[in-house]
Amino acid sequence: MNNTRMHRWVEEDAKAGIFRVSRRAFVDEQVLARERQQIFDRCWLYLGHESEIAQPGDFLTRQVGGRELLFTRDREGRARAFFNTCPHRGAMVCRERQGSANGFRCFYHSWLFGLDGRLVNRPGDEAYSACTREEGRADLTAVPRLDQHRGLYFVNYQPDGPNLRDYLADAAEYIDLMADQSEAGMEIVGGTQDYGVEAKWKLLCENSYDGYHGMPTHVSYFDYLQSQTGALVARKLDIGHVRDLGNGHAVIEYAAPGGRPVASPAPAWGETGAQETATCLARLEARFGTERAERIARLNRNMVIFPNLVLNDIMALTVRTFYPTSPSRMVVLAWALAPREESPSMRERRLFNFLEFLGPGGFATPDDCEALALCQRGYSNLLEAGWNDISKGMLSAEPKIDDEVQMRVFWREWDRLMTQVPA
Ligand code: FES
Ligand code: FE
Repeated sequence: MNNTRMHRWVEEDAKAGIFRVSRRAFVDEQVLARERQQIFDRCWLYLGHESEIAQPGDFLTRQVGGRELLFTRDREGRARAFFNTCPHRGAMVCRERQGSANGFRCFYHSWLFGLDGRLVNRPGDEAYSACTREEGRADLTAVPRLDQHRGLYFVNYQPDGPNLRDYLADAAEYIDLMADQSEAGMEIVGGTQDYGVEAKWKLLCENSYDGYHGMPTHVSYFDYLQSQTGALVARKLDIGHVRDLGNGHAVIEYAAPGGRPVASPAPAWGETGAQETATCLARLEARFGTERAERIARLNRNMVIFPNLVLNDIMALTVRTFYPTSPSRMVVLAWALAPREESPSMRERRLFNFLEFLGPGGFATPDDCEALALCQRGYSNLLEAGWNDISKGMLSAEPKIDDEVQMRVFWREWDRLMTQVPA
């Protein structure tokens, strides 16, 4: 596969209102290999949140873009990211998922590394020449680039290229709307949701800000809400907008139906919940003025930061990332993000939302996984039925959040990167 494509991935005719994506993009082994090279090896990828390594010595291990990484805070308080592989013969140096340590000892031959990744000592050191320690040859290898915005850390496997702030483009403004929900700083709370889906990773990108599927796919959730409140939950899709944020990122922003811990109470939270959210809103207004406070508090946001970071600022602020393990399967990791100073009762409501709607056993995620798996199975018919239609709202002057602008933003960037010849 090179720049002379044997097959077109994306077909766009702006005048006719046609936008189609080839289903080969979802099934082909060669596509996955090229995605690794052209996308995951080149884009900024989400690693973790600053709160997960709050203190010197805190660490976590995580797979990011197909690499095993070690994310840690050194004695000076500096965040660091290393490839989790021993310079000796390659074993993963840290086997724990998360913890706190003074250093990292390799299980295989017991080389010991400091929090800064430098070799501290090794059994039989006298048998090695001094040269083996030169130029960091005996140290852990640092990830070429590590940077953060408002506590969200990203890595990049290329030493050169756009810096993180430029890469995030207008998505940074929406990260700020999330980070500004706290005076004391945001933190990851609860555990990690970790599950697999029998579908190509790009299907989850599309799904995460798909305003079109909510009512039909999640009908059982809306039935449940109706049974709880005795009233139909109105669709408010007319209030809201979709934005192309640059570099393949996009967001939908729309009126929250309620249940935002920041300041949109759910009926089930009762008088206490309403009072707590009113206090939150008053504090936001004091910090940012009415307009920005209302926006932070009353609007939901579903954003995809290209290629594989989802920030859903809805009932619970959710950070979600995923990676393909095969053309038809992905692993998903998700966390809840919350203001540090949140009251215990609001924290409980937030975590309930995180599980009830967004968790792998909640109302939404099993429905979404089923829909995505059905798409993936449907693509077995690609020889006879080979194209996805992503054209909804294409000729509209004012596209709505249940149109498909956001998916088209993603696919244009995906297509641009996939068809570039490597430098
Ligand atoms: Fe790590 Fe040998 S592989 S000490
Ligand atoms: Fe959904």
